Amino acid sequence: MKILLTGGEGMLAQDFLSVLDQFPEFECYVPPRKELDITNQEQVEGIIKNYRPDILLNCAAYTKVDKAETESARAFLVNGISVGKLAEACHRSGVKIVHLSTDFVFDGSNKCPVTESNPKAPLGIYGKSKRDGEERIEASAADWLTVRTSWLFASHGNNFVRTMLRLGRERDEIKVVSDQFGSPTWTRDLALALCKLIRGDVKNYIHFGGLNSCSWFELANYTLKQAHQIGLIQTLPVVTPIQTNQYPLPAPRPAYSVLSTQRYQELTGSLPMKWEEAVDSVLQRLQEKSQDERY
Ligand SMILES: NC(=O)c1ccc[n+]([C@@H]2O[C@H](COP(=O)([O-])OP(=O)(O)OC[C@H]3O[C@@H](n4cnc5c(N)ncnc54)[C@H](OP(=O)(O)O)[C@@H]3O)[C@@H](O)[C@H]2O)c1
Repeated sequence: MKILLTGGEGMLAQDFLSVLDQFPEFECYVPPRKELDITNQEQVEGIIKNYRPDILLNCAAYTKVDKAETESARAFLVNGISVGKLAEACHRSGVKIVHLSTDFVFDGSNKCPVTESNPKAPLGIYGKSKRDGEERIEASAADWLTVRTSWLFASHGNNFVRTMLRLGRERDEIKVVSDQFGSPTWTRDLALALCKLIRGDVKNYIHFGGLNSCSWFELANYTLKQAHQIGLIQTLPVVTPIQTNQYPLPAPRPAYSVLSTQRYQELTGSLPMKWEEAVDSVLQRLQEKSQDERY
């Protein structure tokens, strides 16, 4: 099965590439960004025509949640309009589009894990632009799967876990919001899930996230304690819980972002990793990396 991967330098895409050795039935082509900008219709059509993939896995996205509030046109171009055009190009060539979306398409007013069919009500521009992409795929005649996920982290890229480690080295005290809840998700676990979903030809919407949930405060505490225990940080900073309104940001965040993975579990017979185990694995990798760099 031939997979064309967009956004190949991103956090999730890098981990997708790293798990492919476990799926020998997949062949994957990752054009460099200058050869495949998803806003460039000519490049999209040309690569699909030449490579003739079975699947287009779209990991390209505009992901700057706060900047999107002032760069609305760019966010909608990348996450909305271009995704619709990708889906149309896929349809014309008989390619299935597998797309990534986000918990930000919901408003966070739920009290229990959010299912695929819950009402959509994005709060900010990023969420609205991602919902626009979802709707354009739905409206296309393409064969499609859209996987919504949340709170991604990895041993590479910009993410909360790495930010906490950096702040843990720089500061004695870190203030973290304790009234937003979600499921931290390791991009490597999500990449394995994507491979299973592609192999199973799953369609429509799927929610995927780390097992169980926590607040950002709990995630920060857990990350720092574990990192301290394995010597990734030398001193443990004080982590102080604060409320969302004490840490104003340009874009609003959903208060409750836990996605129900029941459909995923039923269709694949697999469980996502518990978020704590996933954090442990990422810290272990970072520890090994730092040792390699030292010697
Ligand atoms: N990160 C999260 O916590 C999170 C949570 C829920 C859902 N998601 C979704 O999961 C997916 C993957 O996220 P991620 O964290 O891996 O994102 P990421 O690290 O920001 O990767 C996205 C990649 O897409 C590239 N890109 C942007 N515009 C492009 C264009 N026009 N053509 C081609 N490539 C383009 C970016 O390059 P530049 O950086 O050079 O622009 C970047 O390498 C996205 O759909 C995101 O919305 C992420």
